Amino acid sequence: AAVPHFTRPLTVPPVLRPVRRTRDTDHYLVVVRRALAELVPGVRTEVLSYGGGLPGPTISATRGRRAAVHHVNTLADPVSAHLHGGANPVEHDGGMMDTVPRGGRRTYVYENDQSAASLWVHDHAHHVESEHVYRGLSHLYLLRDPAEDALGLPSGRYDVPLVLRDARLDERGRLVYELDDAEQRSTVLVNGRAWPYLDVAARKYRLRLVNASNLRTFVLALSDGAPLQVIASDGGLLERPFPTPVVVVSPGERVEVVADFSGYAPGTQLVLANMTGPGPMDQVGEVLRFHVGAPAPDDSRVPEVLRALPPLPEPTVRREFVLSMDEPGTGHAGHGGHGAEGRSGTINGRTFDPARIDTRVRWGTTEHWTVTNAGATVPHNFHLHLAQFRLLTRDGRPVDPTEAGEKDTVLLFPGQTVTLQATFDTHRGVYPYHCHLVDHAAMGMTGQLEVV
Ligand code: C2O
Ligand code: CU
Repeated sequence: AAVPHFTRPLTVPPVLRPVRRTRDTDHYLVVVRRALAELVPGVRTEVLSYGGGLPGPTISATRGRRAAVHHVNTLADPVSAHLHGGANPVEHDGGMMDTVPRGGRRTYVYENDQSAASLWVHDHAHHVESEHVYRGLSHLYLLRDPAEDALGLPSGRYDVPLVLRDARLDERGRLVYELDDAEQRSTVLVNGRAWPYLDVAARKYRLRLVNASNLRTFVLALSDGAPLQVIASDGGLLERPFPTPVVVVSPGERVEVVADFSGYAPGTQLVLANMTGPGPMDQVGEVLRFHVGAPAPDDSRVPEVLRALPPLPEPTVRREFVLSMDEPGTGHAGHGGHGAEGRSGTINGRTFDPARIDTRVRWGTTEHWTVTNAGATVPHNFHLHLAQFRLLTRDGRPVDPTEAGEKDTVLLFPGQTVTLQATFDTHRGVYPYHCHLVDHAAMGMTGQLEVV
């Protein structure tokens, strides 16, 4: 049966309460387990969860205050928890080979010594991360800081995270996981519910868009074409807000916008639409509907200057990264082009090998990287652990203001090239970089760098 759109209200994942607070640290307990979630109305779907629900409960952290997250794994598979966008020591990065076995316990410690940003946590256990993330192992990690709070942006109930993803459900409502089958994943979930609606007051809202899909990129616009003010990207606030009618968010990316509903008459309905496939557009073309109610007092503001971005030091090393994948129909696909099994993804011609260091970076330096999607049909993106980077150009032109802030993931449409620079002045050790279309990472599109 077709799932009706816009019949259930949006829910927001609950904020996880610390089990213990000390002078400088909040301690959390997360049990990694199976859970039931009502993704579509009236159907209970088994998911994997960090603590219950899809997505799991949100950790709300404060800059400068440590979080210690104690994990207990009750699943048969090994798991890990990677704080995406975090700058943490290797032993707390939740890397691919650093997993928690069944029945195991593990504590991840985050110093939260970085800019306020909408971060998220997801599984990264080698060979199973793609299916684990797909089945629900992710949650928000919202890092706040008093300087940002003082700006007066919409806050409290007017600051709403929207975790977007797709899913493929069978006729009994079970999640179906098949590697790289994007066009089949045509149920759109927002905070774990298919096509919800959100009652909004006629005022400004801060919307934190997080793409937790394995493969799907969303190209979002309001149904009346009204602009959204982009205020933040992966690593936190932009220097200045920038209005745009279309917001693109690829897997792993975060884009924050302020939407102003004050100009609408009560009763107005606005769809947050997705302008692109793959999949049937009557399904994947819709995401969420806003139902505008009465005006509400609004003393929030969007200042003209949001913050000063960190300086851009002169890069001393240049490197190139070329992302490539066997593509169906190009003659390079394994197994005669049927299905994704046997196909591989590469960076600079090599698939992931945990024993190999692909890139050695000197601590304290700034590097200039050129990243190219060599594919003809398939979008990729590029995600770096440990450091937020700054995009410089896209296909030779300066990037859009919405992409000019701190980023940890960048989308590359087929044939595109971006340049970026990153400074490695926090932790030393081995960290991955990879395509964040998680199925592609699982197909080998991952490399490792070592900061020495
Ligand atoms: Cu969000 Cu290595 O990933
Ligand atoms: Cu990819």
